[in-house]
Amino acid sequence: MKTKVGIIGGGPSGLMLSQLLDLKGIDNIVLEKHSREYVLGRIRAGVLEHGFAELMREANCGERMDAEGEIHEGFYIAEGGEKRRVDLAGHTGGNSVVVYGQTELTRDLYDARAKMNGNVIHNVEDVQLHDLKSDAPYITYRSGDDIIRIDCDYVIGADGFHGVSRKSIPKDVLREYEKVYPFGWLGVLSRTKPVSPELIYAKSERGFALCSLRSQVLSRYYIQVPLTDSVEDWSDEAFWDELKARLPQDVADQLETGPSIEKSIAPLRSFVAEPMRYGNLFLAGDAAHIVPPTGARGLNSAASDIYYLYHAMVDHYQNGDDTGLEKYSEKALARVWKAQRFSWWMTTLLHTFPDSIPYDQKLQQTDMEYLFSSEAALTSLAENYVGLPF
Ligand code: FAD
Ligand code: PHB
Repeated sequence: MKTKVGIIGGGPSGLMLSQLLDLKGIDNIVLEKHSREYVLGRIRAGVLEHGFAELMREANCGERMDAEGEIHEGFYIAEGGEKRRVDLAGHTGGNSVVVYGQTELTRDLYDARAKMNGNVIHNVEDVQLHDLKSDAPYITYRSGDDIIRIDCDYVIGADGFHGVSRKSIPKDVLREYEKVYPFGWLGVLSRTKPVSPELIYAKSERGFALCSLRSQVLSRYYIQVPLTDSVEDWSDEAFWDELKARLPQDVADQLETGPSIEKSIAPLRSFVAEPMRYGNLFLAGDAAHIVPPTGARGLNSAASDIYYLYHAMVDHYQNGDDTGLEKYSEKALARVWKAQRFSWWMTTLLHTFPDSIPYDQKLQQTDMEYLFSSEAALTSLAENYVGLPF
């Protein structure tokens, strides 16, 4: 097989790029390790920034998001029995975020790809990248007993943190920066009315908790748990009890509980791989960088990579201009590091660190007091949360 752009990974990054390129007549193939059902079964992001929503619209995939997604102009930070609102719109000149699940937007992207007869190949095994430094890179994968070869101009590594693309870059070229946090998030999805119309990020001595939602009948809650915990350690009842214990009393009293329809633990990690280009391989999304979910930046950072790559590819194929491709890594990383800083800061502000010393706790407390006493600090939080410009 032959194509212009070979995309590894059929998550939101890969599908979005595939759809945008196809709309510009740039031929591409997506290779996904799992089935469509498996990819759609993963419950992940829920908060999209304005730039992401715009990209969905540009990809002709914004219709359902605009109809069913909820515009949020603020969220709450709770601590010590009270909750205080962060006015996103007020601090950003009217900007907001869209609450629309990653599952739904991935479904929209799959449907759009199918409508355009996009080439998305599922259940590929043993993907390997070859001759990335040459003008004729190619990808191979196994399908049953057959080894299939795809020749392309460019390879996009959009295969997530555990994918093969980043690992194909020689160790002496790649520099990896990593910070692993000593806890994870236990998440529960339930068919219950959300406890609050806006998200509540709750700091408590028992650990962090988050009240989020997917719709007015579907709630998503998280609690910070030790890395040694597993999903089996947490019955639904134990989860609800612990969540309530971390929320202000009036919120806990209103919390509607019910059976979990999904329960999973995600470890928290900050990670960046540099550079994001090696020869004709370009990394995008979680394949190149990971943030702890506290600032809702992960998928949104993936979207800015896709935005830069999309425009760089269009400039290359339509105008013969390679500046965007040459500057991709530098440009993408500049924004990636800002999302890293913000996610680290929000995680540090709100979580309970098992190894923290009294000095750290005093700083954490002071950070919170400063935040709500300073318009400048609130503006900084708000402008990062709604997303810095691409
Ligand atoms: P992925 O979604 O990981 O997709 C990569 C794809 O590549 C997968 O489908 C995988 O099966 C496939 N693949 C892997 N290896 C191979 C291979 N060898 N060959 C072929 N295919 C392969 N972000 C936000 O912006 N806002 C939020 O509110 C938010 N909340 C989150 C909550 C949780 C609990 C978690 C875990 C994450 C959250 N995120 C959030 C982060 C967000 O989910 C990710 O950043 C996003 O999924 C990245 O998309 P991606 O396409 O780059 O990678
Ligand atoms: C979610 O709804 O899954 C969600 C929302 C906000 C975050 C992280 C996750 O910061």
